[in-house]
Amino acid sequence: MGIFREKFKTLKNVFDLFTERNLFKLISQGYFEGLESPISIGKEANIFTAKIKEGEKRIVKIYRLSTCDFMQMYSYLRSDPRIKKINRNRRQIIFTWAQREYRNLLKARAAGVRVPTPFSCLYNILVLEFIGDDDPAPQLKDKIPENPFQFYNELVEEMQKLYKAGLVHADLSKFNVLNFQEHPVLIDFSQATSLDNPRAIEYLKRDVHNIVTFFKKLNIYEDEEKLLKSIQTFKKKSF
Ligand SMILES: Nc1ncnc2c1ncn2[C@@H]1O[C@H](COP(=O)(O)OP(=O)(O)OP(=O)(O)O)[C@@H](O)[C@H]1O
Ligand SMILES: [Mg+2]
Repeated sequence: MGIFREKFKTLKNVFDLFTERNLFKLISQGYFEGLESPISIGKEANIFTAKIKEGEKRIVKIYRLSTCDFMQMYSYLRSDPRIKKINRNRRQIIFTWAQREYRNLLKARAAGVRVPTPFSCLYNILVLEFIGDDDPAPQLKDKIPENPFQFYNELVEEMQKLYKAGLVHADLSKFNVLNFQEHPVLIDFSQATSLDNPRAIEYLKRDVHNIVTFFKKLNIYEDEEKLLKSIQTFKKKSF
């Protein structure tokens, strides 16, 4: 128990008591050994690297219980037909939000989309596969692909597989695509939703627009309508 107490001490005062307890629980269940360094403070979540064993890392994404825009989360969740009833309690909304991201990642993963493997979700905490070598893989915006055409084609393939799995990312951009050894990995599935969401196509069009706009700067000229079609017809062809 000594080692856990040691880890526990290092987490103290950084998180609220509830989050701290659950981090401790995940540690005692063996999901990771301790948090290492913060790599991103986002709008809603803080991201840390965590040690699992010598030389191996994981990512721990912690939704902040205090500063989340839970009303926006609520409105996104409400349009997702998979979420049957949502408790309007602020914390419950955040837990449902994290749980949905976890489920999205599992589904994408099962469909062979390049995403971080999700290992666990406990209330507002997600434990994910670390994408990177020693350092986390850079976001696409920070590492322009050496071969933009090839990278673009691979990214389109990921979008097609995702759509075929019945999901739309809904926040796809140069921020949520990592350039890992010159291949794309899709991250941040908190907004991803199922195709039967009435707003799914609107989200898909936005994703397509973001990607086409980014690659235009790299001299890849794609027609948005054409890309949209290729994602949507990919599904039909393969059934
Ligand atoms: N599995 C991972 N491996 C390596 N780096 C990651 C991983 N997940 C996230 N990151 C890094 O942390 C950053 C933030 O992660 P993410 O996009 O999931 O959260 P966010 O944008 O803060 O989320 P939200 O908008 O929900 O608050 C990413 O842009 C990326 O640089
Ligand atoms: Mg993000």
